[in-house]
This record gives sequence, C-alpha cells and structure tokens, in this order.
Amino acid sequence: MFSLEFLVSVVAILVSGIILQHLLLSATSDEPPFIRGPIPFLGAALSFARDPRPLLHRLQKKYGWIFTVYVAGQRITILSDPIFGNRQVWNNSTSVSLPMFTRYISETLFKFTKSMTNDFEFQEQLTKKVISILNSKPLLADIVQTLKVTYLSEVDDSSQYANCDGDVIDLYEYCRHNVYYSSARALFGPGFPFDEIYLPYIRFEDDITKFVKGYPRFLNREGYNARQKVLDELGSFFMDPSRVAQSSVLVRSLYEMFTTSTHNTPADLSGFFFAIIFASKSNSVPAAFWMLANIGADAELKAEVESIIARHYDPNSEDFDWAALVENPLLVSCFKETVRLNANVISGRHVTQDLDIKVAHQSEQHTKEYRLRKGSSIMMSVNMLHWNEEVYPDPMKWMGKRFLEENKGNLVRHSDKWRTAYAPWGGGAHMCPGRFLAIYEAVIQLVYTLARFDVEPIEDLPGPVIGDRYGGGVFKADRGYRVKFTRRKSPLKSVA
Ligand code: HEM
Ligand SMILES: *[C@@H]1O[C@H](CO)[C@@H](O)[C@H](O)[C@H]1NC(C)=O
Ligand SMILES: *[C@@H]1O[C@H](CO)[C@@H](O)[C@H](O)[C@H]1NC(C)=O
Repeated sequence: MFSLEFLVSVVAILVSGIILQHLLLSATSDEPPFIRGPIPFLGAALSFARDPRPLLHRLQKKYGWIFTVYVAGQRITILSDPIFGNRQVWNNSTSVSLPMFTRYISETLFKFTKSMTNDFEFQEQLTKKVISILNSKPLLADIVQTLKVTYLSEVDDSSQYANCDGDVIDLYEYCRHNVYYSSARALFGPGFPFDEIYLPYIRFEDDITKFVKGYPRFLNREGYNARQKVLDELGSFFMDPSRVAQSSVLVRSLYEMFTTSTHNTPADLSGFFFAIIFASKSNSVPAAFWMLANIGADAELKAEVESIIARHYDPNSEDFDWAALVENPLLVSCFKETVRLNANVISGRHVTQDLDIKVAHQSEQHTKEYRLRKGSSIMMSVNMLHWNEEVYPDPMKWMGKRFLEENKGNLVRHSDKWRTAYAPWGGGAHMCPGRFLAIYEAVIQLVYTLARFDVEPIEDLPGPVIGDRYGGGVFKADRGYRVKFTRRKSPLKSVA
C-alpha cells in the first residue's frame, strides 16, 4: 500500500512536470511571437473553442499579422498579412500541404476511410481533376445549364409559389432548399437521392461544431444518425453505375478515378463526396441567401437590380443573357461584398518542412523574416483580412456598391498593394475551384426570384451565427427571414 503522502507527492511531481513543460514551451527568435495560453497542455484551446473571434482579433491587434498560439499540443501560426505573407504560403507547394492539414476533419467529420485519409497524393490528383473541370468554360456551362433549368422548375407556374399573392415566405428556407436542390441535380443528376439526403444533411450541418469538438456519440446522437444516413445514401448511389452515368462530367470523372484506384469501396467514395458536397453547398447556399436578402432589404438597390435583370431579358429566346449578368459590375460588386463580409473561412496548411517567409508589419516597407516550424500548422482566417477597417471602412456593414470602380480608394483602400486583402477563395494551387460556380448559383437565384416575384421585406435581416462557428464556412442566419412574395402578373420592366 502507498501512503497518502506518497500519492500526494507523486501527483504534485506530475503536475509540476506538466506545468514546467508548459513553461518551457517557447519559440526561437526567428519564429513568430508565441502565445502559450493560460492552461498547461490545453494552451489556448478553451477560449479558442468557445469563440475564436475575440481571441484571434485581440492577438492580431497586439502582435500584428503573424503570431503562433499553442492549442491542445499543436503550434498554430495565425497569419493575416494582406501584402505578401499569405501569398507566399499559398504559393509554396513544396513546404506546405492542404490534405495533411485537413486530415483530422477528413477523418472525424467526413468519415474518410483510413486509406483515403493517408493517400495525400491521390487527394492532390482529385483536386487537380476538380480544378480542370470547373475552370473549363464549356464544361462549367453544361453544369450551369442544368442548374438554371432546375432552379426555374422550383419557382415556375407548376411550383408551389405559382399563386403567391402577398404570401409570407421564409426566404432562408426557400434559398436553402432551392439552391441545394438545383445544385445537387446539376452535379449528381436525376438519380441522386435528394429527398432522402436533404434533411439529414441539414441536420449534420447544424450540428457540425459538435463533431469538430469531438463530442461523444451519446451527446450528439441525432447528428451521428443524420451523418450516417447521408453516407449510406451516397454509398448506395455510387454502387449503382446507371445512376452515376446520369451525373455531371465532374462527378463522373472523379468516380472513374476512384474505380480505377485502390480506393473503390462505397465508404471511400461516400466520405470523399460528402466532403465535396460540404465544401460547395455549406458555403454557396448561405452566400446566395445573403446576397438576395441584402439586395431585397434595400428598396433603392433592389429597383436598380430589377432594372438590370429586365434589361438582360430577351423575349425572343425567352431567356436571360447570363454571361452578361454574371459580369454586370453592380451584381459582381454585390456578390463580392456578400462574400467579403460572410465568407468566414479559414484556409489552413500543414508545414512539411521548415519554411521562411517575409511578413509585412502594417506596411510593405517594414518587413521581417520568420521561420515556420516543420510539423506546425498555419491558419489564415479570411475574416482577419476582410474585416480590416484600414482596407474596408465600416467593415461589418454590407454595402452593395463597395466594389464598384468608383469606390476604389474610398470604400476599398490599398487595393494596389494589399493584394490579398480580399481572399475569400484562399489561394495558390488549392484556391477554391468552385468560385465560378458559386457566383452563378447566387446570380441564378437572384435573377429568377426577383424576375418572378415582388419580394417585400417585413422584418429586419437576421444576423450571422458567429460564436463557435467562426472560421467554419459562410455564416448561417441566426433565424429565418420572413418576406412577402407576390407572383408578378407582368414581366419586370427596365427603368431606362
Ligand atoms: C461562396 C462560396 C464558397 C466559398 C466562400 C468557398 C471557399 C473556399 C475556400 C476558402 C477554400 C480553401 C482554399 C485554400 O485553402 O486555399 C475552398 C476549397 C474548396 N472549395 Fe470552395 N468555396 C465556395 C464554394 C464552392 C463551390 C460552389 C464548390 C463546388 C464544387 C467548392 C468546392 C471546393 C473544393 C472542392 C475545395 C477544395 C480544394 C482543394 O482541395 O484544393 N467551393 N473553398
Ligand atoms: C518554399 O519554401 C522553401 C523553404 O523555405 C523554399 O526553399 C522555396 O523556395 C519556397 N518555394 C516557393 C515557390 O516559394
Ligand atoms: C501564386 O499562385 C497563383 C495561382 O497558382 C498565381 O496566379 C500567382 O501568380 C502566384 N503568385 C506569385 C507571386 O507567384
């Protein structure tokens, strides 16, 4: 038997060992400022998990555009240098890795199989395929065509909205359903089990932070069941070649890469495609909502946008000039502003070998070299770039015209030198390949909705859910958003 004193001293030695180890954690002088956090081992994890925003933005104020926090045993460098720091990391393909950074969420969140999680090279090949398809104009046009036809079917004369006459609609639900549906159809074809997947998928998305924080199954039973349902449905979809054959060139090409590789089980396919659905829809669906809602809430702007929509309608072909619409300066500005304010993504990389970068200190004349340590992670929160008031005055306010040429230097500053002050898509080899599709989704919804309905706001816009969702993808709305829908009896007119 051990005496009580003995046990107490063992515990004391252990505890002081942990504290000592914590105190000894440090950084060398060529590394970024290092923040250990108050609690041994967990480091800054607790405040980080609760709500990273106040912590990160306070540290950014105190330490500048680069610093390293110690979170639960990991060194995480936070980088928000809009002049050249971020770009050096994004553009370095030899010293940093995206699949190694996402390894944890690939496995715990999306249920990648072990073999997929660890095959970084195969993941890189899949990415290259996605990029080559979504960057090709004709291939993208094909996907966009199905997107338009499907979206239209959701709001045309045979839809549930055909006879709306001042009916109160939850615009958030409307957008969520219509964009998911049209986009699922455009990517996965008519054989996709949309009705089976939609509600469980939404449920999973709403419970996402519980997965990221590693809640045990019994505290997140509904989330687990919902996720399993989505994975099962995806698995059986991919085991049915006749259904896959009707999907887009994107899904078919990726599918072929799987079937000709060693990763060809239903679990390999469902985990990966689950991640693709998440990367695309969890971002572009709320982005399309915020754009429509913000325009609809500003009567003057809405009238201008309606006039643009009317001008781009051709009664002969009974279609819009979509190419011109997605390049229209006002619509582009509204989309850019929506994404600036709401993107809320963190682009991250794992450092695979020591990496030296030059970081600006507020101006491009004041720079310093820093060494990023092999084995650490780098996180680049776009909010830290996009909410910088030196670049975007009144940064938390949505201004549809902010990105018009005439407002350069005034509502968008330093745009000649601070080149990554706007980076909603990340950068370098892994820059979001879905960015062209995302603007089409938002514009298609905007155009069809305003062209068919008179949309009348009856309450204030909802707010974004931030808190522990900081960095977790385009903000969701914190409640529904009720508006009145009236089906237009005559086409929109352009006010010359
Ligand atoms: C407003 C909507 C969207 C936003 C804000 C967004 C943002 C991002 C960001 C920041 C990244 C990481 C890039 C990096 O770390 O450098 C990313 C990656 C990715 N996005 Fe998007 N995205 C959106 C829509 C879409 C859509 C519609 C798709 C459709 C397929 C898509 C597919 C992907 C994929 C596959 C990746 C991973 C790329 C890779 O592994 O290299 N995204 N996105
Ligand atoms: C990437 O980082 C390594 C290590 O610092 C460096 O030698 C290399 O030149 C960098 N590559 C690019 C393209 O910046
Ligand atoms: C960084 O990479 C992007 C995309 O690959 C490229 O367009 C850009 O020119 C690169 N920038 C530099 C400074 O190399």
